[in-house]
Amino acid sequence: MPGTLTIAVSKGRILKEAAPLLAQAGIELHDDPQTSRKLILETSRPGVKVVVIRATDVPTYVQYGAAELGIAGKDVLMEHGGEGLYEPLDLRIARCRLMVAGRPGARPHGRRLRVATKYVESTRRYFADQGRQVEIIKLYGSMELAPLVGLADLIVDLVDTGNTLRANGLEPLEHIADISSRLIVNKAAMKMKHDRIVEFVARLRAAVEKREAA
Ligand code: ATP
Ligand code: PRP
Repeated sequence: MPGTLTIAVSKGRILKEAAPLLAQAGIELHDDPQTSRKLILETSRPGVKVVVIRATDVPTYVQYGAAELGIAGKDVLMEHGGEGLYEPLDLRIARCRLMVAGRPGARPHGRRLRVATKYVESTRRYFADQGRQVEIIKLYGSMELAPLVGLADLIVDLVDTGNTLRANGLEPLEHIADISSRLIVNKAAMKMKHDRIVEFVARLRAAVEKREAA
């Protein structure tokens, strides 16, 4: 619809950390996203809606123009590849690192290293760039379990405090990328709704800078 803006945001920790930034940018959510079961949230700004979806679906909604804007982790954007998207702003929220982890010194005999991860593309690129041949096993969660039960030698997962790794007898071994949440924009919408989007990006940028300065 002309004039309206839809912002796709990952439910969970990103929405929790993005909501105060959006409020600072003049977009207050009418419902509490932590308790509401609604998937489309109205906001204090006429014509601006927030859709709450799974982290990995955010780039897809924005790529196809179902939402003009989105907020997603860099980890998810690296997997998606960024087709059809601009990434104009680092929101500096949900910060962590994408890392290789495992039991130090554990090396398989007579076969390739097995790496379990939900980040198949980033993992493939990381090891290929170094000329290391590994077998990648796609998982959808609880990567830390894989080395404990002999499914994999290493994992590639997000690390923040390191508590999850430590609790499972694993260690961070190699740093792949620093991760934070980014604002993404549908490329076609950037042309069609240029003024509205540029204004929104400027407001959000100001909110990020204000928070960083605090
Ligand atoms: P789903 O369960 O819907 O598949 P998820 O469990 O990956 O999603 P979250 O754990 O809320 O969802 O993570 C969403 C995003 O938050 C990730 O893509 C990443 O960018 C960021 N993130 C994940 N874990 C951490 C962490 N420990 N610290 C900081 N940011 C994190
Ligand atoms: C994320 C990630 C790691 C953990 C790392 O999981 O998948 O398991 O955080 O954080 P830490 O280094 O501070 O322990 P999350 O807590 O989001 O659980 P989930 O993957 O089950 O959603």
